[in-house]
Amino acid sequence: MSTRTSHYKIAEIGGDGIGPEVVAEAVRVLEAAQGDGVHFSFERGEVGAALYQRTGEDLPRDTVDLCRSANAILFGAAGLALPPGAIIDYVIFRENTEGLFASLGGGSKVGEDLAVDTLVITRKGTERIARRAFETCRGRADRAGGAVSKVTCVDKANVFRSYAFFRQVFQETARSFRGIKTDFAYIDAMTMYVVQAPWRYDVIVLENMFGDILSDLGAATVGGLGMAPSGDIGDRWGLFQPSHGTAPDIAGKGIANPMATILSAAMMCRWLGAQHKDPRVTAVGDRIEAAVAKALQVPKARTRDIGGEASTRAAGDAVIKAL
Ligand code: NAI
Ligand code: MG
Repeated sequence: MSTRTSHYKIAEIGGDGIGPEVVAEAVRVLEAAQGDGVHFSFERGEVGAALYQRTGEDLPRDTVDLCRSANAILFGAAGLALPPGAIIDYVIFRENTEGLFASLGGGSKVGEDLAVDTLVITRKGTERIARRAFETCRGRADRAGGAVSKVTCVDKANVFRSYAFFRQVFQETARSFRGIKTDFAYIDAMTMYVVQAPWRYDVIVLENMFGDILSDLGAATVGGLGMAPSGDIGDRWGLFQPSHGTAPDIAGKGIANPMATILSAAMMCRWLGAQHKDPRVTAVGDRIEAAVAKALQVPKARTRDIGGEASTRAAGDAVIKAL
């Protein structure tokens, strides 16, 4: 063993909230424990959500350089509390006919060594989903008095030609919707953004497989799968269903949360209103949605998955009472 002292440079990255406080204690402990031929030096770097709010960057170049030049990185935590009054209300448009699902059942497997599925992006499919996303964004902006109005295209355009093409067609479609802001994110970073600050999003559009994953993750940001409605909407037909599956672990016990399905029914009413130019059925959807929001303010209406004890029937009753 060398008799010379080993110097280790540690990048000290506190981040947000309690991050800097807890890292400071770990640094004090390291300083107290060093000696016997070991010496640590610490250099602080900034990352995180508060930094992002201040500067528009959550991981600045300086911090990356510091981390690269260090022997190790000691990190606290990043992310902010939900700001008071923040409303999590966003829509995910998942292209549902192509993408990585295009080869569903038609992939190929060569012997025991190789399997291939193909990701397909067409101009027609991408234009159709992008157009719907922009139209919906415009409708939401009208309803909310223009509060938020942004469509975020999520892809992996930096790595794959198919996703670069998806983004290109999205941008071309955006030209017909001036006045609506566009925004871009890579899917990997997006999973973090949606967890950290879902209220930043309005309408999100993505390819089939990425949409499959992000929509379940998104459900978790609004209370779980029991709270997330969805619709499979084509040019002519619409099928409305909760985002969840059959939940065999709780089936038959009368404790499933019916809100996702009730909200899917509300979505169905609003879609019918648009298809048939019938504002009365749109209003039924609006009434149901408002009743769900009202019912859920009382703990008695909440099923177990969202922290209550209500049965499926009692939750349904609460919505009807609120109506
Ligand atoms: P899942 O959505 O059925 O369940 C995932 C977890 O969420 C479970 O812990 C479940 O108890 C909970 N959960 C789901 N819905 C809930 C509700 N309304 N209230 C309270 N908790 C709820 O997903 P999983 O377990 O991956 O799949 C189970 C079955 O459902 C499989 O056969 C799967 O193929 C099928 N499935 C069907 C879908 C569809 O018909 N659209 C979609 C997803 C899965
Ligand atoms: Mg799914």
